[in-house]
Amino acid sequence: MLDRPKDDTPRNYGEFPVSAEPQAIRLRRPQATDGPAVTALIAACPPLDRNSAYCNLVQCTHFAAHCVIAERGGRIVGWVSGHRPPSDPEAFFVWQVAVAAEARGQGLAGRMIRMLLARPEQRGVARLITTVTHDNAASWALFRGLAREWGAGLEQEPLFERDAHFAGAHDTEFQASIGPLLPRMLQPEQG
Ligand SMILES: CC(C)(COP(=O)(O)OP(=O)(O)OC[C@H]1O[C@@H](n2cnc3c(N)ncnc32)[C@H](O)[C@@H]1OP(=O)(O)O)[C@@H](O)C(=O)NCCC(=O)NCCS
Repeated sequence: MLDRPKDDTPRNYGEFPVSAEPQAIRLRRPQATDGPAVTALIAACPPLDRNSAYCNLVQCTHFAAHCVIAERGGRIVGWVSGHRPPSDPEAFFVWQVAVAAEARGQGLAGRMIRMLLARPEQRGVARLITTVTHDNAASWALFRGLAREWGAGLEQEPLFERDAHFAGAHDTEFQASIGPLLPRMLQPEQG
């Protein structure tokens, strides 16, 4: 058995990293091989709807410029998917935001969305749109916080309704629209 030091200073016995610093979370674009881990993260983040593995693969490839992965020590701990609606190209639609329980409460969701909007591919975006169910307090707090930070308005209205659009099987999704967004509001970050 190893004779451990009495103080808390990390020493290298070949069992653990020398540094006591928590590993940094890195943001990057997804690639096809991320698909299964993204599907698993979404499944671990209720109340998000589970998508098919194929849906996540298409997002990781065709829509890689509109999606972001947060990674810590080789493990995927965050995901945001989105797209520019062809019928409304000045909008950026945030589809799903997933942060692993171990990485919550550190501003990661907001950081991923800010990074997405700062990408060159998102030039010309004037509004962020998303849909949220009435009872998702964390999600409302996230988007209200972003609107506050940007000094932008947030409007909400029912978009997909329980009976008319979900045949009674899903709570009404309210569309939140944040804008106007100006380029100077969106700070660039690599990724
Ligand atoms: C919602 C979610 C993405 C937030 O991720 P996060 O990285 O922890 O969020 P942040 O640290 O950026 O916090 C954003 C805001 O939400 C608030 N918040 C976080 N969790 C909360 C909760 N459970 N209830 C109420 N507010 C909450 C934070 O205080 C913060 O508000 P502030 O800016 O006014 O302080 C994460 O909780 C999650 O993955 N939830 C499950 C899936 C989901 O509901 N996704 C959103 C729907 S698209």
